[in-house]
Amino acid sequence: MKKIRTAITGIGAFLPEYKLTNEELTRMVDTSDEWIMQRIGIKERRILKEKGKATSDMGAAAVKQLLAKTGNKPDDIDLLICATITPDMQFPATANIIAHKVGIHNAWSFDLNAACSGFIFSLITASQFIETGQYKKVVVVAADKMSAITNYKDRTTCLLFGDAATATLLEPSAEDVGVIDHIHHVDGLGRHHLHIKAGGSLHPASIETVKKEEHFVYQEGQTVFKFAVSRMADVAVEMMKKHDITSDNLKFLVPHQANMRIIDAVARRMGIGREKVMINIEKYGNTTAATIPLCLYDYESQLKKGDNIILAAFGAGFTWGSIYLKWAYDGNPGS
Ligand code: UT7
Repeated sequence: MKKIRTAITGIGAFLPEYKLTNEELTRMVDTSDEWIMQRIGIKERRILKEKGKATSDMGAAAVKQLLAKTGNKPDDIDLLICATITPDMQFPATANIIAHKVGIHNAWSFDLNAACSGFIFSLITASQFIETGQYKKVVVVAADKMSAITNYKDRTTCLLFGDAATATLLEPSAEDVGVIDHIHHVDGLGRHHLHIKAGGSLHPASIETVKKEEHFVYQEGQTVFKFAVSRMADVAVEMMKKHDITSDNLKFLVPHQANMRIIDAVARRMGIGREKVMINIEKYGNTTAATIPLCLYDYESQLKKGDNIILAAFGAGFTWGSIYLKWAYDGNPGS
């Protein structure tokens, strides 16, 4: 019997309209367009400015676009997973709120917290339900309202992040396309270098934690940078070797978009040129869980059935990993 694989069969996205440019940031903190472009490679990021709007609103908009684009109804969906580190609230899960807002009634849902590796961890989690034949349609939402946890007085972090949401449809395929392999890792020691100090059960929110600005992203940039380069490159190269993938038969590397220098270093270790790397960091910055599917969304029209794609991510946790997949359809079916 032919193996059932998990194929990505559509991608939707939501990007807030407001563009926070480097020029505007220079009026907020001591920085410059030149420094940001040289050290990171970001020109602008999208920010969800509307009051009362949260991660679930972006996620729901992305799911609605996905359903329209792929000709599905809300009740066709069996399971919805939301990869996020900026849930609407501590509980219940943002996935449940998205399902409610979209009118998905026949599915169960849950959140998955793997920061910038959220999409790849969720894709593999979802694929288990499809490969066993249990489910036919699973939606992975990758959504983060990073502006809600960014300290716009801290020049070392405030220029990195943007807000965005994507929704990816996964379906079974008996053809030789879809997810072929994955390598995932975590190292909990990494929590010391990248985290939010307060608001959890270790340091519950108090007037003190607010005064000390402990509800924002804390990052030791240089340490995280070194781990990100070596760990992402390690898994991507391991994946290439395991499946005899070379620069010639790889269509695209889809790396997490945290820093252009990290992306270039990973591509160098893989022996591939920039033309084989999906890059949109300049337009959106680091949108945490959403970066990889947002690249796939932007490059969708360039993809063809059977293309070899390697995904690679690194994020808080630490979490990191790589997925090898064969693309399942031609071009952009919604265009
Ligand atoms: O997505 C999750 C995983 N996260 C990542 O992968 C992020 C990894 N880290 C990074 O991408 C980089 O470490 C940053 C972009 C966060 C920082 O870049 P860096 O090249 O590591 O800068 P640095 O912290 O070593 O600082 C270099 C210099 C310092 O000045 P001195 O000490 O050399 O005089 C900083 O004070 O740049 C200074 N600096 C700035 N200058 C202008 C730091 N932030 C800024 C700024 N504008 N915004």
